[in-house]
Amino acid sequence: DGTTIDDLIDRDMNEVSLRVMNDKELYEVEMERIFARTWLLLGHETEIPKAGDYVMRDMAEDNVIVSRDRSGEIHVMLNVCPHRGMKVCTAEAGNAHAHRCIYHGWAFRADGSFIGAPIEKEQMHGNKRGKDELGLKKAKVHLYGGLIFATWNEDLPFEEYLGDAKFYLDQLFCRTDSGLEMLGPPQRFVLPCNWKIPGEQSGSDGFHTLTLHRSLMEGGIMGGTAESIYDTAPGMYGVDLSVPQGHTLRCLEAAQTFKMFADVSFEGKSVEECLHLLPPPGITKDLIPQLFKNLSEDQVKQLATIPPQVGGMFPNILIAFIFAPRADGGASGALSLHTYVPKGPDRVEFVNFIFAEKDAPEDVKRDMLQNAIWSTGTSGTIEQDDADTWPQIMRNSRGHMSKTITLKYQALHGHERPEGWVGGGDLYPGFTKDDTQWAWWMAYYDLMTRA
Ligand code: FES
Repeated sequence: DGTTIDDLIDRDMNEVSLRVMNDKELYEVEMERIFARTWLLLGHETEIPKAGDYVMRDMAEDNVIVSRDRSGEIHVMLNVCPHRGMKVCTAEAGNAHAHRCIYHGWAFRADGSFIGAPIEKEQMHGNKRGKDELGLKKAKVHLYGGLIFATWNEDLPFEEYLGDAKFYLDQLFCRTDSGLEMLGPPQRFVLPCNWKIPGEQSGSDGFHTLTLHRSLMEGGIMGGTAESIYDTAPGMYGVDLSVPQGHTLRCLEAAQTFKMFADVSFEGKSVEECLHLLPPPGITKDLIPQLFKNLSEDQVKQLATIPPQVGGMFPNILIAFIFAPRADGGASGALSLHTYVPKGPDRVEFVNFIFAEKDAPEDVKRDMLQNAIWSTGTSGTIEQDDADTWPQIMRNSRGHMSKTITLKYQALHGHERPEGWVGGGDLYPGFTKDDTQWAWWMAYYDLMTRA
């Protein structure tokens, strides 16, 4: 309607019009310029361990089949039959070496290539295309720490998409010999809100933890007390960071943040001693040597002392790495990834993937699964708060007058490199801030204004 992105995002005032949450035309542009151009998380390779295994997922509103072929390679292909547009695969998950369309019977291999059609002589009569042109449309696939990413964009190498965030994300996803294992199928539910409402929160919004989730602190559900968490907020101190690609993380000082669980001091301790005192979630003492093998010395040092804990990968992934040591001093906690998959301008599918280290003992995996379900699961204590809030913002975005309101990013302090910090990106040390969320919007602006 003549509105430009600069009318919606005011880069001088650091404000965003509430209209962006409820605009059909903008949504269509987002589908083309963001969701068809960047890498999207679809699952984990441990979901489909055997040849022929598949799961059905969505790349925004495009339904895709994620499958493993006979050679072990993983493929992602559009679940749209090139004959008349029917869904080729109608099951959520299963094992099949061939997918046969129920409409007229065209069949496709696990790598998407066309096998044939029934009554082929008649069905293919007059066909102007060779069989090799009748396969399912394929997306480009990249496995990162076993996480399955896919994109329709031929020109965006995965390394370029990760940028300087790799140094930090490796510490979560690529740290042990066997890597992560996904615990069960993802939990899913649909919320009546625009994808950017949870999306911008995933840009490491620390302040909402202190207010929206305060009842969890007061109730002792997350450990500690209201005094130790809200008022002095040790869990809010550390280093926030962002990269131009829009990925953000909050790295929290372990000895400070987790005082509520274990009163430890890292003073004069080696990295290995710190890891033994306060092992990162899911890392048992047996797994500690593997950290040194799979990560650089600088990465292990950071993981031990000021680990990346929460944040997001642009455009729609939330990373939640929750610390909850067990009474026996063992490693537990939770590692969840959420994706916020757009389902129209006013609907989002919340998908929750839960992980543990594949080599962790079964009782640790069980604890990690339980912790993730009760905290960041679809009915978890944390997500119930968020799932109540986001639709109310959405509802407000519809009002004639409400649309004139702008979202204000005021806690901006600018970036500053702490002494001795090794990783890249823009760094924001100290108490939590709005800088990373604003960086999320700047990545959004960048993609939306690229021709
Ligand atoms: Fe699939 Fe016709 S639509 S075979």
